Amino acid sequence: PEDVGILGIHMVIPSTYVDQKEYEQFHGVSAGKYTVGLGQAKMGFCTDREDIHSLCMTALSGLVSKMGITYADIGRLDVGTETIIDKSKSVKSVLMQLFEESGNHDVEGLDTTNACYGGTAALSNAISWVESSAWDGRYAVVVAGDIAVYAEGSARPTGGAGAIALLIGPNAPLVMERGLRASFMAHAYDFYKPNLSSEYPAVDGKLSIQCYIKALDNCYQLYCQKARKLSALTSDSSNDAVGINSFDAVVFHSPYGKLVEKSFARLVLNDFLSTPEETILELYPGLEKFSNIKLEETYFDRDVEKGFMTFSKELFKKKTLPSLLLSNQVGNMYTASLYGGLVSYLISKSVEELGGKRVGFFSYGSGLASTMFSIKLVAGPKLSQLVSQLTYVHDLLAQRHKIDPAEYTKMMESKEANYNKAPFSPTSSTDLLFPGTWFLVDVDSQYRRTYDKV
Ligand code: ACO
Repeated sequence: PEDVGILGIHMVIPSTYVDQKEYEQFHGVSAGKYTVGLGQAKMGFCTDREDIHSLCMTALSGLVSKMGITYADIGRLDVGTETIIDKSKSVKSVLMQLFEESGNHDVEGLDTTNACYGGTAALSNAISWVESSAWDGRYAVVVAGDIAVYAEGSARPTGGAGAIALLIGPNAPLVMERGLRASFMAHAYDFYKPNLSSEYPAVDGKLSIQCYIKALDNCYQLYCQKARKLSALTSDSSNDAVGINSFDAVVFHSPYGKLVEKSFARLVLNDFLSTPEETILELYPGLEKFSNIKLEETYFDRDVEKGFMTFSKELFKKKTLPSLLLSNQVGNMYTASLYGGLVSYLISKSVEELGGKRVGFFSYGSGLASTMFSIKLVAGPKLSQLVSQLTYVHDLLAQRHKIDPAEYTKMMESKEANYNKAPFSPTSSTDLLFPGTWFLVDVDSQYRRTYDKV
C-alpha cells in the first residue's frame, strides 16, 4: 500500500479546567510563574467520573462515528498510554466492549507504555501493520491518552489530560514519510511510576528537561543525516541542506509551552553548529561567539539559550507556536500531547495553506524513548474533510467549565484517598461532561469497572 498515514482524527479534552493565573495566586508563587515561566494558560483535568478507559472509549467511539465506519472495518487497534489501572489487563481489551455489537473480535494490537512516548510507538505499530504482509485490507486505529497529575509541588501545574484517536490506512492525506525516522533510546530515571499505590509519578524535573533536550539533539542530528542520505539515494535534492527550513512546521511533545520554545531554539543551535565557519557571520549574525561550544555542555547555559531563543523567535512563531494551542489551554496530555500539537497546527490554518506542507515531529517519553519523524500533508478533499472535522475543538475549548483551584485541590485529595479502592462509586456529577463522553459508573468489589455514555 502507498501513502500510509492518518485518514482521520478525533480529539478529546476534559470539560473542566483550572485557570493558571488563579493557580499562581492559590499556590502563592510569583505572578507569571505558570503563565509566562511555563507558558501555560489553563490546565484541564478529569473528575472521578473519567479514567483512562472512559477517555479512550470517548476518543474511539467519536472517531468511528465521525468517519462513518463500523467497528467491523477495524483490523488493528494500538493504544498508547502511561495511565495505569488494571496493570496486566490492557486498555485495548477494555475498548473491545465497543466492538461487541459488530461481532468483530479479529482485532490485533495491544497497549504500549513508556511515559509520553507510547502514542508514537502505537502509531509506528499501526503503520507497520498496514505496510506489512499481515495487513488484511482493513483500517488500523491508534488511541493515545493520559491523565497527567502530579503531587503538590512544582510539577503540579504541568498536569493535564486528553485522548486522541487516529484512523490509519493507505492513500492518506497525512502521509508518514518513509525512511525518515530517527530514534534515541536510553536508560534514565527522570520520570517514572514506581509507587503503584499512588497515581503520581516520581519526577526529577531538572533531569527530565536535560534528558528531553539531549534526546532532541540526537534525534534531530540523526534525522538530518538520514534525510541527506535518502536524498543522495533518490537524487531528490530537496533534502540537501537539511535543517529547520526543511520543515514548514515542527511539532514537539509539550510538557509545557516554554520547554517547546527552548527546544525550537535548540534545533536552530544544532543547525548553527553544523554550518561551515565561513558562512556563520552571514547566516547567524551576532552568534559567532558560540561557534566553539559543545552541545552536551549547554543544556542549562543561559547565554546560549537566550541567544538562540532571541534569534529564532520569529521562526518559532511561524513554525511551532500554532501547534501549542492545546498544550497552552489544556496542559500535558502525555501520550496525546504530540498529537494534540498536530491537531492545534491543523486547526490554525486554512486547508489551502496546509496542502503540500511538511511537518516534523519530536516525540519524547521519559525513561527514555524518543523519535523524530515527519508527515507530508497531501492537498485534496481528504485533507479538507480531516481538517473540517476538527474545528469543533475550538468550541470544546470555549465550552469548558472553570473550577476553582481550592475545589480542584479538594478533588485531588479525594482521588488520592480513593485510589485503588474497591468497591468504589464516583461522586462527581456527570452534568458537566460533554455530550458523547463515556464515564465511570462504578467499581465493584472485584475491581471491575462499568461505564456509560452521556
Ligand atoms: N514570571 C515569569 N517567569 C517566571 C516567574 C515569573 N514570576 N517565576 C519563575 N519564572 C520562570 C523561571 O525563570 C523558569 O524559567 P526558565 O525555565 O527559563 O529557567 C520557569 O519560570 C520555571 O520556573 P522554575 O523555578 O524553574 O520552576 P520549577 O523548578 O518550580 O518547576 C519544572 C519547573 C521542573 C518543569 C516542574 O514543573 C516539573 O518538574 N514538571 C514536570 C516534569 C516535566 O514536565 N518535564 C519535562 C519533560 S518530561 C515530561 O514530559 C513529563
